[in-house]
Amino acid sequence: MTLLTKILVVSSALAAVAFAQTLEVQTSPDPCTVLNKATGAGNMTYQQVANCYKSIAFNPKDAKATIDTLTKFYDDVFVFRDLAMTPNLPSPFTLKPVDPLAELRRIGRKHYRRDFDFHGDLASFANSFQDAHVKYADKTKSGLEDCEVLSINGRAARSALQSHADTHTGFSKDAGVRFNFALASHTYWPAAKLWLDTPGMFSMRPYLPETPHIDYVLQCKDRKIHRLRKEWDILPLVEPDTFTDRATFVSNFCAHSKQKSENKPPTNDTQHRLSSPKAMAKATVMTDLVAALYLREHGQMPDPSLKDFPDAKQWAGNNTAAYQLRSMPHVGVLVVPTMEQDSKTEIPAIQGYLQQLAKNGVTHIILDMTGNFGGEEHFASLLPTVFFKTTNKATHSHKHRYRVTPAMQKLAETNLQNGMPFTDWDPRALADLQFRLYKTSSPFAKDSVHLTFNGRAATYSQWVYLDYDFNIVDQSITYPWSNDPSKIIILTDGQCGSACGMTSDHFVHTHGVRAVGVGGHQHRALSMFSFAGASVVTVDEYIDAFKSLGLEAPIQYLPYANSVSIGFRYIVSGNDTQPLEYNPKRYPAALRLDYNTDIARRHDKLWAAVAKTAWK
Ligand SMILES: *[C@@H]1O[C@H](CO)[C@@H](O)[C@H](O)[C@H]1NC(C)=O
Ligand SMILES: *[C@@H]1O[C@H](CO)[C@@H](O)[C@H](O)[C@H]1NC(C)=O
Ligand SMILES: *[C@@H]1O[C@H](CO)[C@@H](O)[C@H](O)[C@H]1NC(C)=O
Ligand SMILES: *[C@@H]1O[C@H](CO)[C@@H](O)[C@H](O)[C@H]1NC(C)=O
Repeated sequence: MTLLTKILVVSSALAAVAFAQTLEVQTSPDPCTVLNKATGAGNMTYQQVANCYKSIAFNPKDAKATIDTLTKFYDDVFVFRDLAMTPNLPSPFTLKPVDPLAELRRIGRKHYRRDFDFHGDLASFANSFQDAHVKYADKTKSGLEDCEVLSINGRAARSALQSHADTHTGFSKDAGVRFNFALASHTYWPAAKLWLDTPGMFSMRPYLPETPHIDYVLQCKDRKIHRLRKEWDILPLVEPDTFTDRATFVSNFCAHSKQKSENKPPTNDTQHRLSSPKAMAKATVMTDLVAALYLREHGQMPDPSLKDFPDAKQWAGNNTAAYQLRSMPHVGVLVVPTMEQDSKTEIPAIQGYLQQLAKNGVTHIILDMTGNFGGEEHFASLLPTVFFKTTNKATHSHKHRYRVTPAMQKLAETNLQNGMPFTDWDPRALADLQFRLYKTSSPFAKDSVHLTFNGRAATYSQWVYLDYDFNIVDQSITYPWSNDPSKIIILTDGQCGSACGMTSDHFVHTHGVRAVGVGGHQHRALSMFSFAGASVVTVDEYIDAFKSLGLEAPIQYLPYANSVSIGFRYIVSGNDTQPLEYNPKRYPAALRLDYNTDIARRHDKLWAAVAKTAWK
């Protein structure tokens, strides 16, 4: 376990910071002025960031507006409002039940002195669902890479990491996946067509860490014990002089900018309409950050010859990539680092890559979905169609339901009457169980259904499917592994989120493909995907859907720039009745691998280990 990378990312967009009047105390010098000067000099310290953040006083008026908006948003739109209260969910899930409305009530009543603490509580609340859809947002080459971390801040390393991951990541309902998320990994970088070391969420924090440094105890190859104190490196994501003091820090970064969301152009493009780029915000940020870190360290793009591994040749690659193992030439790998793909170009590209692998003797294929945080549902439906002949669109689409309120019924009806622009509640993008597109608002209005979860009742839509363009896949192209689940393996570290989980669910539960889960905890099942069971909407997107149709929105924008997103459609796997998000039996990967130094460092070795596990 190598954990010597520490980056503190200071970003208004990512950090849950505050917006408020200034505190009377501590006016001179203004800690945010001090921070800006340090940003300009390129030597910000942890303490300077902390002083500026923490100097902003709690604002009861804005806090009340925040709690009011969030309460109505969670109450009306959050599709897991009642399911989140489910107690005692079995393995591989490890999470506590949450009553979102009671939690918001508790935070709303609490007295705060600093806005920083109020927002800290809201961020913990969002993380408590362990659902990355619910969100409020240096690499030091020291010669110690081969050391084992024994302890972190005086605590056994594994338990320190797990505890951090449980509290701060909000990423998965499975503790093993949260653990993977905290650790460093590799990320395929499409722009450079090669792999980068990516710091995990323990060492790269999009918020202010609790302590200014971390104490490590390491045991290295020479068996000697090393003690190391690492200060945080601070990566400013804003230019100097973007703020000059506390007041401009607050107004430039923390206050909600209404322009931005109101100016969003309406769209009539099917692809865009059906996609959920919101789910990808995180992955986009991660990839960009990792690339930025690389360039900051090296000053130039990586050498393209590095795209091959000692044991794997890259035949082709762009947004996805195709490799063939040299030691086992019958094994090929399709790397799918994200579902945020332009299906119209990427699906034909993938079909071409796979033909090239087949031509060179590949008969068995690994689909590498590690670190894939999701993206387009459209792409999630098309990818399995490349591997399995499909005559019915419903085969690769998930049945799902929405919450239904009178406001949403009005939205659906107005959308039908006005035509433009499409919103997420437009019935014309939805199909019934025979995959006939809706021409009326009936799934939301007169046919809606009443369901009770954990003793609390709510109204939901009929089962619906999302429409997609089936003909993007050229089904006349076949490969040696076509329609043969025994020759296809999914590789996952559990960090296969959202649309990645949806596509995996089709491969595994519709077609019988096996998944190999890598990492997590020894002898414990690992989830093959996370937060697979929903599509997300932010407060702003929900409000803008109403405004775009000239309707009055049922909630107000938040006073703060924080992004708050929740699941608004729940899906089920196959003919299940239990929503996928809260159905642990759909999660465990059939096969497991533990990380060791070799496979943690080299993806070609990981692929070879997967092939040996799957096809022994
Ligand atoms: C940061 O850099 C400025 C300008 O180079 C210097 O005056 C100041 O002492 C430095 N501060 C720290 C904490 O190193
Ligand atoms: C929007 O898309 C629909 C369906 O594809 C089409 O019938 C309609 O003409 C489009 N409207 C505009 C304004 O482009
Ligand atoms: C690679 O992907 C980019 C972005 O999607 C696209 O513009 C470009 O044409 C692609 N290149 C090739 C060779 O397919
Ligand atoms: C779901 O049920 C329908 C109707 O009984 C059946 O045709 C279909 O094959 C089932 N799907 C799955 C994935 O079991």
